[in-house]
Amino acid sequence: MSQKLKVGIVGGTGMVGQRFVQLLDQHPWFEVTAIAASAGSAGKTYVESVQNRWKLDTPIPEAVKNIVVQDASKVEEVASGVDFVFCAVDMPKKEIQALEEAYAKTGTPVVSNNSAHRWTPDVPMVIPEINPDHLEVIEAQRKRLGTTTGFIAVKPNCSIQSYVPALHALREFNPTTVVASTYQAISGAGKNFTDWPDMLDNVIPYIGGEEEKSEQEPLRIWGSVENGEVVKASSPHITTQCIRVPVTDGHLATVFVKFDNKPSKEDILARWSEFQGRPQELGLPSAPKQFITYFEEENRPQTKLDRDIEKGMGVSVGRLREDSLYDFKFVGLSHNTLRGAAGGAVLIAELLKAEGYIQAK
Ligand SMILES: NC(=O)c1ccc[n+]([C@@H]2O[C@H](COP(=O)([O-])OP(=O)(O)OC[C@H]3O[C@@H](n4cnc5c(N)ncnc54)[C@H](OP(=O)(O)O)[C@@H]3O)[C@@H](O)[C@H]2O)c1
Repeated sequence: MSQKLKVGIVGGTGMVGQRFVQLLDQHPWFEVTAIAASAGSAGKTYVESVQNRWKLDTPIPEAVKNIVVQDASKVEEVASGVDFVFCAVDMPKKEIQALEEAYAKTGTPVVSNNSAHRWTPDVPMVIPEINPDHLEVIEAQRKRLGTTTGFIAVKPNCSIQSYVPALHALREFNPTTVVASTYQAISGAGKNFTDWPDMLDNVIPYIGGEEEKSEQEPLRIWGSVENGEVVKASSPHITTQCIRVPVTDGHLATVFVKFDNKPSKEDILARWSEFQGRPQELGLPSAPKQFITYFEEENRPQTKLDRDIEKGMGVSVGRLREDSLYDFKFVGLSHNTLRGAAGGAVLIAELLKAEGYIQAK
């Protein structure tokens, strides 16, 4: 009998759901045993449901092809076949909040890709290398939900992963002001060039809601757990512009930063190359060996060349130099659907298992 934890993917037919299916194929700890989606997909096999809309360049894994898609709203039924679920659904915020809480209340941990619970005070929003300590808030959440095993944990927005890791490694120098402009891939909108031909030869200077998330979510990541709630940090002051650019995958950011204690360029490069987080210490299966990679070449990182570094789970930086208005400027890059979406959520689940929060039922 398999020793792997049984996992369900709620929203498994969608773009992020397909990434979960891809990443979990042959995963050493987790095995997909259930896939759920809207009532329209329920009852079909997974292959029937996605064959005309499979968006990835690897084939649909054999192990999931014949799984019969379940109706995600039949919570007890889906939850009874799994130890925990990933969730990535396109529904109104209140409905997602209710759906995720319903799964958690059955005693089933929910690792969510959705933004619905990112500001629920007792729900941890985690980048495993940065704030694994926020998992301690789960105890308070379990009390509120009336369960000893279920809970919800979420990942932050994909945009922030292109600059927050690099800034985090420099927190000892107290960054006070950050200006970040993000150049974001079309897969972040769940699209490719066939779905969105207007993006060819084009740049769109607006992504709804993205700038607020990009400015506020880092403060929650850098916040602290107090009395069963995550309290956001009060600094640095972050301002952003988020721009949609014609690339398939990969969010690139240009970043300006001012510090209280200005480091030297050598200090910064050393902190980036030395940075290790809890996933590296624990040797989690999806953890990049080198979380932050600095490129010396002046024309790197490039979205197309460098987004897949460390299987899309690493972060690239380059072009570090002093600035005439700020202390330093640099460029950052991360893969939005791997580190920024499904891969980031799988890493959270691995951390939750390693820390004892997710177990076989
Ligand atoms: N795309 C990205 O890069 C990205 C990055 C970060 C976060 N996200 C977030 O991840 C979530 C999913 O995004 P996506 O791009 O994967 O969306 P998507 O491709 O539109 O897929 C949506 C999924 O939700 C399911 N769904 C829709 N209505 C439902 C309902 N009433 N009940 C149950 N399931 C329902 C769909 O099932 P059917 O196939 O049956 O319709 C499908 O599985 C969203 O919250 C999005 O904001 C996306």
